[in-house]
Amino acid sequence: MKSAPWWKEATIYQIYPRSFFDSNGDGEGDLPGVTSQLDYVKSLGVDAIWLSPFYTSPNKDGGYDVANPRDVDPRFGNLEDAKELIAQAHKRNLRVIADIVPNHFSDQHEWFQAALKAGRGSKERERFHFYDANEDGTPPNNWISLFGGPSWTQVADGQFYLHLFDSSQPDLNWENPEVNADFEKTLRFWIDLGVDGFRIDVAHGLIKEDVLTNHSDPQGLSNALRLDVAMDSEVRNALLLTVPYFDRQGVHEIYRKWRKLFDSYVGREIMAVAEAWVHPPVNATRYVRADELHQVFNFDLLTAEFDSKVLFDVVERSISLNATVNALPTWALSNHDSPRVASRIGEEQARALALFVFGLPGSAYVFAGQELGLPDGQLQDSDRQDPTFLRTNGQIKGRDGARVPLPWSGNTTPFGFSTGKPWLPISQCWRDLTVESELADPKSSLHLYRNALELRKEFLVGAGGIAWLESSQHGAKNDSLLSYSRGSITVVMNLSDSAKECDASGKLIIVSGGTVDARDGKKVIPARSTAWFLA
Ligand code: NOJ
Repeated sequence: MKSAPWWKEATIYQIYPRSFFDSNGDGEGDLPGVTSQLDYVKSLGVDAIWLSPFYTSPNKDGGYDVANPRDVDPRFGNLEDAKELIAQAHKRNLRVIADIVPNHFSDQHEWFQAALKAGRGSKERERFHFYDANEDGTPPNNWISLFGGPSWTQVADGQFYLHLFDSSQPDLNWENPEVNADFEKTLRFWIDLGVDGFRIDVAHGLIKEDVLTNHSDPQGLSNALRLDVAMDSEVRNALLLTVPYFDRQGVHEIYRKWRKLFDSYVGREIMAVAEAWVHPPVNATRYVRADELHQVFNFDLLTAEFDSKVLFDVVERSISLNATVNALPTWALSNHDSPRVASRIGEEQARALALFVFGLPGSAYVFAGQELGLPDGQLQDSDRQDPTFLRTNGQIKGRDGARVPLPWSGNTTPFGFSTGKPWLPISQCWRDLTVESELADPKSSLHLYRNALELRKEFLVGAGGIAWLESSQHGAKNDSLLSYSRGSITVVMNLSDSAKECDASGKLIIVSGGTVDARDGKKVIPARSTAWFLA
């Protein structure tokens, strides 16, 4: 029997290199730092690492402002360090996924610098979205940047360029064939260097429509696109249907071409996962049609309430929608753009939800530090570096809290992360959350993750679909229990604040918190906890 491709049900560990491990004492994590901790990564039981960008960049947006996509920024090391990282990962049978950022370049990229020089009407400007001002001097349209403020910036000769993100991130014009040619060169560059896949940043954004047309509610739309702005879900969903710069049909042609490029590396099983925030949810499945990409992120769990109906709906919908295109879902509880799950829903709930998710079909993404149960770092405004914070004059705090460096060892901050001053402060309160201290505690979150991922591999990867059990058949609001069986495992999550009995049979093999007792032939699941039973 042909075995499934490596990525199908892989557990993928996201590393934000700047915050992982600092090898040279400058206060910022780097590639040799990642390489030095690969044994730790391997010990978690994950199959692959995804590295957030480490390319040459002025770092206005955490490296998602790329000035040279085919080189390493000196703050992270050099190309030799990248090769060594890949080689050492492969030696441990860990695959490597690189982040590719096709929606925009940094304004320091040579193409943008050339466009500034070459002036209006030039071929150099056609690689971006340059337009003249309106007659009254205003920008070509009223779109608002996802980081706040206008999405147009004016250059010295009066023209404006489009940037959906920071003004230092000019959007590329994908109608220009030179752009795709350059990205294909970048994809090949990293594949030839050894990477096994790509995470595609803003995969839904490359094609823009109606660039010269105003939107009827640009501020509303910008708010609707932000997870950190609260909004009635019907209003949000209605606005999301009107966005002219995301999820246009043209993006799919690009991914069909890229798929051919990936498949031309016969025997390498190169994969790609799309970061595509699209609405309605069914649209996400278009990115994983057979001739397009391999996975698309499902971000629902980054915001979902810890509630049985909400979670039932998210899981059921993602599994069934993906099935329509013969794909498997992906699951992520945290990433570098969102509040950490332990802060968002609480520590015990975060452990319970992780164990619940690790049983599901598809690929599980784990954001470095999530395995330690890290909360968001507590920061002063003066520490913050996120362009969202800067562009909204501090109104929106931004994403730095999730990006605080990892605590490794010892009793005092910065806990072995660096011998220097970390780029964001690490709170002394994290003393019991270091890798070292969690390794010494069998009840720690770290041990839970390691045990769970081992059991997942042993009993669940490749085990097929899930069957919902008992009360969770319909996932009623406020139900205490949500449970499913898959292969030989029954997974029961108790969402309530008190212990609950359930009928699950089989032998207890793992529980996210507390102890499971037996009463009158039933199992008693502790409050805010998930347990797995083996038939
Ligand atoms: C999504 C990335 O995850 C985020 O960190 C970045 O700011 C935007 N894309 C823009 O590249």
